[in-house]
Amino acid sequence: MGRMIAPHSAPRSVPARTVRKAVVPAAGLGTRFLPATKATPKEMLPIVDKPAIQYVVEEAAAAGLGDVLMVTGRHKRAIEDHFDHALELEQALSAKGDTVRLDAVRDSARLADIHHIRQGDPLGLGHAVLCARRHVGDEPFAVLLGDDLIDPRETLLSRMLDVRARRAGSVIALMEVPPEQIHLYGCAAVEPAGEDGVVRVTGLVEKPSRRDAPSTYAVIGRYVLDPAVFDVLERTPPGRGGEIQLTDALQELAAGGTVHGVVFDGLRYDTGDKADYLRTVVRMACDRPDLGPEFRAWLKEFVAGLADGGTGAEGERLAA
Ligand code: UTP
Repeated sequence: MGRMIAPHSAPRSVPARTVRKAVVPAAGLGTRFLPATKATPKEMLPIVDKPAIQYVVEEAAAAGLGDVLMVTGRHKRAIEDHFDHALELEQALSAKGDTVRLDAVRDSARLADIHHIRQGDPLGLGHAVLCARRHVGDEPFAVLLGDDLIDPRETLLSRMLDVRARRAGSVIALMEVPPEQIHLYGCAAVEPAGEDGVVRVTGLVEKPSRRDAPSTYAVIGRYVLDPAVFDVLERTPPGRGGEIQLTDALQELAAGGTVHGVVFDGLRYDTGDKADYLRTVVRMACDRPDLGPEFRAWLKEFVAGLADGGTGAEGERLAA
């Protein structure tokens, strides 16, 4: 049941209810990662040995969201199978007594109560979220983009849930980016909210030019949304890129004064971007207790080779 805490600036007279459900949109075309994403969703690309989307579901589960709805597209099967039991594989590993791999295979199916829905046409992130309406019902819910990875040591989602519990309305995650990168993101106009790391969002614009951007606060892929967003999405016309933009619907809610932003300055990776994907894999591999020590040693040698202009033994061979 909901925590009966009086909201700070409640848009409605009802108390804020506890968020129980997460929606993970994973129906985009992933064109930046072609041809790898021709037959595989980008959300299934491995970060070391786990698909990116598993980290995202783990993050939702760690924040107490035990009900996860995947919004999938053409490649539904791969995602559905990954979060299901694989009986033949489990039996084979069990017969070999390989309990470590058996647990790794079973983990993804045990993380949460996982549901799937098809978006059909990828008409935009806003449309993907609207597809979740029937499953979510009249409750606040979280949205975690399936290709946007927050480092597992961060507590961003829990902070956002806490702000929602105290202030009601919707909460978005914001990250300061260099001005020359703001055109790649949704951008928020903000004012102080009287709390460290929290701002009131007064306006939102999708991928503005540097000149038109109201700030350098970029919207990143975590949201805690009031169900009021569904009515707004129903009437949101296609916007930038011909897509139904979640940012456009949030702009309407922000104009009504019901959107807050939690400012994040931790580690976040856009695994749908090739360069960021590579950085993610390297970072995560370095942090792994089983692979890290050997991989870091190799990496140091490799980087030293690059610093020598490619004349170090490893660096020269691999950078060629
Ligand atoms: P992106 O804009 O990163 O996804 O959407 P994309 O269109 O697949 O990527 P590129 O630019 O072609 O490479 C952010 C998130 O929203 C989902 C994507 O799967 C991703 O997780 N999304 C986007 C949907 O679920 N449906 C859509 O119609 C669009």
